[in-house]
Amino acid sequence: MGSTEDLDYPQIIMQYSNGFLISKVMFTACELGVFDLLLESGKPLSSDAIAAGLGASTLGMRRLLDACVGLKLLAVEMTQEGVYLCWQYLADAVREGRNQYERAFGVSSKDPFGAMYRSDEEMLKFMAGQNSVWSICGRDVLAAFDLSPFRQIYDLGGGGGALAQECVSLYPNSTVTIYDLPKVVQVAKEQFVSPEERQITFHEGDFFNDSIPEAELYILSKILHDWDDDKCKQLLAKVYKACKPGGGVLLVESLLNEDKSGPVETQLYSMNMLVQTEGKERTAAEYSKLLEAAGFGVIQVKRTGKLYDAVLGRK
Ligand SMILES: C[S@@+](CC[C@H](N)C(=O)[O-])C[C@H]1O[C@@H](n2cnc3c(N)ncnc32)[C@H](O)[C@@H]1O
Repeated sequence: MGSTEDLDYPQIIMQYSNGFLISKVMFTACELGVFDLLLESGKPLSSDAIAAGLGASTLGMRRLLDACVGLKLLAVEMTQEGVYLCWQYLADAVREGRNQYERAFGVSSKDPFGAMYRSDEEMLKFMAGQNSVWSICGRDVLAAFDLSPFRQIYDLGGGGGALAQECVSLYPNSTVTIYDLPKVVQVAKEQFVSPEERQITFHEGDFFNDSIPEAELYILSKILHDWDDDKCKQLLAKVYKACKPGGGVLLVESLLNEDKSGPVETQLYSMNMLVQTEGKERTAAEYSKLLEAAGFGVIQVKRTGKLYDAVLGRK
């Protein structure tokens, strides 16, 4: 037997008496299915997602996961939302004149949505964020023109569907189809639009690569600002071709003053478009030019005085 003088007995005894806490944390994580869920998902999950997936409280799960990290049973990764990460490279975006997805995430900057939707959680947050603005100014943009003659409406890139919901409540004789990428439509159906909402239908598609069905009115809300002029012209030409004669397209966007001197919110949104997308905010004249290039005639512009404005082009 060697000398025991150097050992910190109180400390050792405390550790031994707490030993069961360690095994209890590990077995509880096993019992609740934490490791199985992470294994099945094949990718990191947030503590909220784990709590929701396992039917546990967010508060309790967060604490259990922290303890698992302390015990080296799990590793933690701190993430930031795409928008914050991209804004860290604002100076690079200004120097290079392009979005910063590649620098921020190491993924192609050509498809901003592919990059943004790289995690389901980020996509859900983005959809909820986009939706939230329409409870404040959805009515203003939809009532800027009398849309009641249009019964068959497609909301292209309709996302979580908040604007579509405002639209059918304002125009009860119309139906609105939310057209968006398949994974977005799935989430809109499951989490955002009530199944009892009979005036709303869904269409999964890619508006650049798939066909756009015939309709009387197409809403493009915060769509053109994501894309450069060539892509906008390509999309509007497709919309024009699909549109019924007498029909139209409603652009919902935040309009810059003609001399681009403001509004300041729109200028800031345009900086956001620079760091995150291929697009920009535009003036009413710039949108009118894009519409005319696609073939639309009679173009009317309504500034709502709120964050978003409306431009209507007729076929
Ligand atoms: C800025 S969000 C606007 C969402 C919604 N229109 C609104 O105003 O709240 C752009 C939308 O376009 C959709 N989108 C992007 N690329 C698309 C594509 N190629 N085909 C269909 N939808 C697309 C996105 O999924 C997203 O829902």
